[in-house]
Amino acid sequence: MPNLERRRLGRTDLMVTALGLGAMDTPQSSEGEDTLRAALDLGINFVDTAREYEGSEFLIGQVVRARPALDLHLSSKTFRHSADGAQRDVDRSLSMLGVERIDLYQLHDISTAEAWRAVQGEDGALAGLRVAQFRGLIGHIGVSSHNVELLPELIASGEFDAVMIEYSAFFPETAPLIQMAHAHDVGVMVMRPLGGSGRTSVIRTRVAEGSAGVLTPANLLRYVFSHPGVSVAIPGARYPSRIRENVETALSFEPMDLDERRALEDAAAELY
Ligand SMILES: NC(=O)c1ccc[n+]([C@@H]2O[C@H](COP(=O)([O-])OP(=O)(O)OC[C@H]3O[C@@H](n4cnc5c(N)ncnc54)[C@H](OP(=O)(O)O)[C@@H]3O)[C@@H](O)[C@H]2O)c1
Repeated sequence: MPNLERRRLGRTDLMVTALGLGAMDTPQSSEGEDTLRAALDLGINFVDTAREYEGSEFLIGQVVRARPALDLHLSSKTFRHSADGAQRDVDRSLSMLGVERIDLYQLHDISTAEAWRAVQGEDGALAGLRVAQFRGLIGHIGVSSHNVELLPELIASGEFDAVMIEYSAFFPETAPLIQMAHAHDVGVMVMRPLGGSGRTSVIRTRVAEGSAGVLTPANLLRYVFSHPGVSVAIPGARYPSRIRENVETALSFEPMDLDERRALEDAAAELY
């Protein structure tokens, strides 16, 4: 099995491969199961899912049940804002995934001040996740957010061991937030590291035509790995070939210097 680089997820005891898998869309192809198997066979040890990702927890459960001794850290998420709702979601995730404990459970998409207030209430989802943690059902608590103004508050709150942030050459403005999370010992999971599926399909066409220049999936991943505050990047994949290519990129990773990063950001800005 290839020896993928591992990074500590913030202040937790979890050592995660810098290359993870975002399993949001993995079930949406007939090769989804093979894709997940390829990830595990090639040493990826962090898989991100959510209650909301249709079929994703179920697919992971099917594969993981057959391989109980696996070195694998799972992360799922709840959209619920109430304590009761969050606890029910943890129970459903455990049952779908077929595990007794989930290493990281996140509050999904806390992107408004109202959502943040609601989850912090006495009967809020955060309290529910604390109970689940006390019961040993989840190991650590994280949060995902798309709101760059709210993220500093989430990071500094002391409530979270890890935060899921969008970051890529298409969306470099979150670099200081990643730095901040690192300084607070909060793990950073990078969502949409390749800029999302719309862009990657254009990029794949250009690669096939030989006109991609520096804007390749490999360079986009290298860009994300090059930020020292990133714990794990979770590119989405529906096909095993993507996993093999991303593993190759991770294995041959050399950090990008500033000029390379700027050139990639410029090429990304030109795409759309
Ligand atoms: N918390 C949230 O609110 C939130 C929101 C969005 C995403 N996320 C998380 O972040 C993960 C990733 O986000 P994402 O899937 O939207 O964006 P992404 O990872 O930036 O891009 C995924 C796209 O890249 C393609 N791809 C992957 N590796 C490739 C390669 N080597 N060459 C060519 N194409 C490649 C995939 O293709 P195929 O699918 O065709 O294989 C897919 O279309 C999700 O799975 C999810 O876990 C979280």
